[in-house]
Amino acid sequence: MTDTPETVNWLGLSGRVCVVTGAGGGIGGAIAATFAAAGAAVALLDKNEAACRAAADALAARGTRAVAVACDTADPASVDAACARVTAALGPCDVLANNAGFLSPGALASLPLEAWNANIAVNLTGYFICAQVFGRAMLERKRGALVHVASIAATNPQPWSGAYSVTKAGVAMLSRQLAAEWGASGVRSNAVSPGLIRTPMSEAFYQHEDTARRRAELVPTGRVGTPQDIADAVVWLASDRAAYISGEEVIVDGGVTQTLMGMIPRPGFTQASTR
Ligand SMILES: NC(=O)c1ccc[n+]([C@@H]2O[C@H](COP(=O)([O-])OP(=O)(O)OC[C@H]3O[C@@H](n4cnc5c(N)ncnc54)[C@H](O)[C@@H]3O)[C@@H](O)[C@H]2O)c1
Repeated sequence: MTDTPETVNWLGLSGRVCVVTGAGGGIGGAIAATFAAAGAAVALLDKNEAACRAAADALAARGTRAVAVACDTADPASVDAACARVTAALGPCDVLANNAGFLSPGALASLPLEAWNANIAVNLTGYFICAQVFGRAMLERKRGALVHVASIAATNPQPWSGAYSVTKAGVAMLSRQLAAEWGASGVRSNAVSPGLIRTPMSEAFYQHEDTARRRAELVPTGRVGTPQDIADAVVWLASDRAAYISGEEVIVDGGVTQTLMGMIPRPGFTQASTR
């Protein structure tokens, strides 16, 4: 097929200013690179300045207008300052990918209040702060898109993970409420919920070959997901190709959340007995 101006900018993201939080990490890095591949200008925010700077430098070397900004998404002053820097460097924000988050172990029976609050501050309140601050330019200009990286843990409780599932459930509702409140102003809001994705956050789960294999076997598509699997869904939802989609949650998990009924023993209802 020959490229035409329409196919080259099929996603409609060329020249748009896309802000990615947690861009120094696995999924955020892939989202930033995929926006760049679509011709967008990209702001890479992370509290780990070295990580987002390395990712931004790699994109800039390939010709992308990219800026790295050290930012703690849980701190309103830090997000305000980041927004000012992004606007000065690239222009007003068109797209926000809310993605910065962390996971730590903890049993609800004994979880210290500080640990509960710390996870909510980043994984949920941080998403709200970034939406409010970067959404301002979108509301003023009556166009924009928000995509929030939630998790399959938003609808499936993930035990022994402290507040993590609760924060992700909150993100799913935050996204829907933003869609309802901002839709009339031309701003869409959607969520992407990853399943088992191999990134620095989950790397410890893949250190033992046997555990890695058993995790892959749980997934109907037969493999663990990659950051690119998530980035493709995020960039599509942010693009003009999803112009009539708002308030949705797209689950990107290779089908792993569809396996519950198959785990229940039901003699006569196995693959072998129904042949
Ligand atoms: N990896 C998975 O299997 C998986 C599954 C479901 C959902 N998710 C979600 O995807 C998102 C990205 O996770 P990942 O797997 O790429 O993890 P990651 O650890 O590779 O990346 C997370 C990034 O967020 C940054 N960050 C953390 N707190 C921050 C803060 N307060 N301010 C700014 N930056 C901060 C970290 O420095 C890191 O670079 C998270 O929201 C996570 O909950 C991941």
